[in-house]
Amino acid sequence: MLGSFWLKGCLALSLATVLVGVAMTGVGKTNSGQYVGSEACAECHDKEYGNYKKFSKKAHSGESVKLMSGDLTKQELEECYHCHMTGFGKPGGFVSFEETPAMADAGCETCHGPGFDHVEAGGDPELIKGKLQLSDCEVCHNPERVAAFDFKPLLFGGAH
Ligand code: HEC
Ligand code: HEC
Ligand code: HEC
Ligand code: HEC
Repeated sequence: MLGSFWLKGCLALSLATVLVGVAMTGVGKTNSGQYVGSEACAECHDKEYGNYKKFSKKAHSGESVKLMSGDLTKQELEECYHCHMTGFGKPGGFVSFEETPAMADAGCETCHGPGFDHVEAGGDPELIKGKLQLSDCEVCHNPERVAAFDFKPLLFGGAH
């Protein structure tokens, strides 16, 4: 029993390695869509990370939900997670406050997209979203709020 599980695990792993290998070496690199959390960005982008932690409301967006969680059903809570957490329901993303505390806010990757591949590749700029549009904000912010953003708040939302 154990042996066959182990074998299947190995096969899955080597298949994944092959797929990642193809994605990384292919023309036009493909992002695997895996999230990693803002702490993983701090090492190389300490200025952005420091400002984010200090100034961005997003750095406390998990707390905002936690404070109200006593009054909400599981289903209602999951709705909150889509906007207030990082990568909820996606590979490497938020699962729960206990299991994934590092993903319990709207981190860097809510704007820049999944960053695991960028980190693994030592910061390859082709594997992260660098340019953003106001329409990217409308996933979570209502259009009236977004219309009131201009160039500076666009950056300030991430506290750059
Ligand atoms: C994944 C969801 C998500 C995306 C995408 C997102 N935000 Fe936010 N943002 C939030 C949440 C949640 C808060 C509120 C945090 C709190 O106070 O709990 C917030 C707060 C803010 C704030 C501070 C509050 C305010 O309204 O003044 C600004 C500014 C902001 N975001 C700007 C942006 C900009 C600009 C973009 C697009 C480049 C963006 N956000 C994209 C989720 C998101
Ligand atoms: C569609 C995305 C979205 C969903 C879903 C969502 N929020 Fe938010 N929430 C935001 C954004 C964006 C802000 C910031 C508003 C602003 O100032 O522009 C915010 C602000 C807040 C704030 C105010 C924080 C502050 O510092 O003033 C609280 C509290 C909050 N949300 C709790 C919740 C809870 C609880 C749920 C689930 C029932 C939830 N939100 C669902 C996007 C969302
Ligand atoms: C191992 C170091 C390293 C880590 C970890 C890292 N980065 Fe980077 N990042 C870089 C380097 C190097 C560049 C390219 C700088 C340049 O070309 O000017 C870069 C560029 C970027 C850019 C600009 C891309 C562009 O189009 O110009 C963004 C956005 C970014 N990183 C976000 C992140 C986020 C978000 C994380 C965490 C998920 C992260 N980085 C983690 C090293 C890193
Ligand atoms: C609210 C959305 C938002 C969040 C959250 C956010 N950023 Fe950004 N980031 C931007 C925007 C907008 C730009 C400017 C892109 C452009 O020039 O068009 C940017 C640019 C960058 C760049 C390119 C260099 C620069 O400063 O112009 C890096 C590196 C970067 N961000 C890293 C991070 C890291 C690390 C985090 C988390 C600690 C983070 N960002 C969180 C929106 C965000």
